[in-house]
Amino acid sequence: MIIGIPKEIKAQENRVAAIPPSVALFTAAGHTVLVQRGAGEGSGFSDGEYLSAGARVVDTAAEVYASADMIYKVKEPLEPEYGLLREGQIVFAYLHLAPDPAQTKALMDAKVSGVAFETVQLANGSLPLLAPMSEVAGRLAPQIGASLLQKINNGSGILLGGVPGVAPGHVVIVGAGTVGTGAARIAAGLGARVTVLDVSVERLARIEELLAGQVETLMSNSQNIAASVTHADLLVGAVLVAGAKAPVLVTEEMVKTMRQGSVIVDIAIDQGGIAETIDHATSHQDPYYIRHGVVHYSVPNIPGAVPRTSTLALSNATTPYALKIADKGLEQAMREDPALFKGLNTYKGRIACAAVAAAQDLAYEPAALT
Ligand SMILES: NC(=O)c1ccc[n+]([C@@H]2O[C@H](COP(=O)([O-])OP(=O)(O)OC[C@H]3O[C@@H](n4cnc5c(N)ncnc54)[C@H](O)[C@@H]3O)[C@@H](O)[C@H]2O)c1
Repeated sequence: MIIGIPKEIKAQENRVAAIPPSVALFTAAGHTVLVQRGAGEGSGFSDGEYLSAGARVVDTAAEVYASADMIYKVKEPLEPEYGLLREGQIVFAYLHLAPDPAQTKALMDAKVSGVAFETVQLANGSLPLLAPMSEVAGRLAPQIGASLLQKINNGSGILLGGVPGVAPGHVVIVGAGTVGTGAARIAAGLGARVTVLDVSVERLARIEELLAGQVETLMSNSQNIAASVTHADLLVGAVLVAGAKAPVLVTEEMVKTMRQGSVIVDIAIDQGGIAETIDHATSHQDPYYIRHGVVHYSVPNIPGAVPRTSTLALSNATTPYALKIADKGLEQAMREDPALFKGLNTYKGRIACAAVAAAQDLAYEPAALT
């Protein structure tokens, strides 16, 4: 198979789908890999490293799209890329089609097989190609919060770890899933006092076991959230109700009770956020705003801040699937792997993902694999 790795064109997107060791795996298996010149630059991988791994480096995205059987990228194709798509081509990337009718139409019109990282799903319900980015975002949250707590960033001037004779800062994390666990681990490592809330006792038990003695856990209900938010120096929103908008768990009244200069890092912003006062997404260039004296951070693509780590983590997770598709062909790979089959969003001009069809009021036609 010819695998194409274009350079990402989304604003501030510095990740790349395949790292040179992945390319070496593909070429060793007999596949041809086309890498657009400079595709790995933002993540610190040079064209020379791709060449050494056996790739052919080409100058333009058009050359990649014109020859590749599979376009392997990070973010969804954007408008300038729509015209490059070819019938029967596989696009393996984060697609996020539900809120994106223009891209959905482009993929349907071009009759490409759109396989979305975010809907590849294991039998236990977990999303293996989404989890690595949640790991990154969760672990970054205390780092971001610690920086925003500094006076120079309008923070309260609290050092999360404290010092001998001075109490540490209090980090309150709502949601004990992948993001929440990563955030708790790093916050505890910094020496902060950490409280984690979740509606799932199993999740709370797991985090207690993992971070024995380093975190307090509480059932997530409005009373416990209100009581915890008041004392939070850093509040981390890490809730997910699969497929749904994030529930508003932290009301404006609760935010008003926080100490001036305290910080909210609402990682669930990509699902709308859990704080009532988080009313818009911010960006890496302009990451926070102040409401009721509290610093609000709501960047929807947090892993973009650390593209090197994010690229490595994403590539680790997606490479085995890309290799399987290349080795067996998409249809056979999906027949053998139900998790990958769940990733199929568009197929032969039709919507093959129920959630995307429902979101856009389009017909859902599951792919018939003969
Ligand atoms: N902003 C970013 O860059 C970025 C990056 C990665 C993930 N995310 C987002 O972070 C959120 C969390 O992702 P995740 O991978 O940790 O999900 P996850 O499914 O692993 O964990 C979500 C947790 O939320 C808990 N939960 C559900 N309702 C709750 C409630 N009312 N109160 C408290 N907890 C509740 C669940 O029990 C679960 O433990 C998602 O919205 C995800 O899209 C954002």
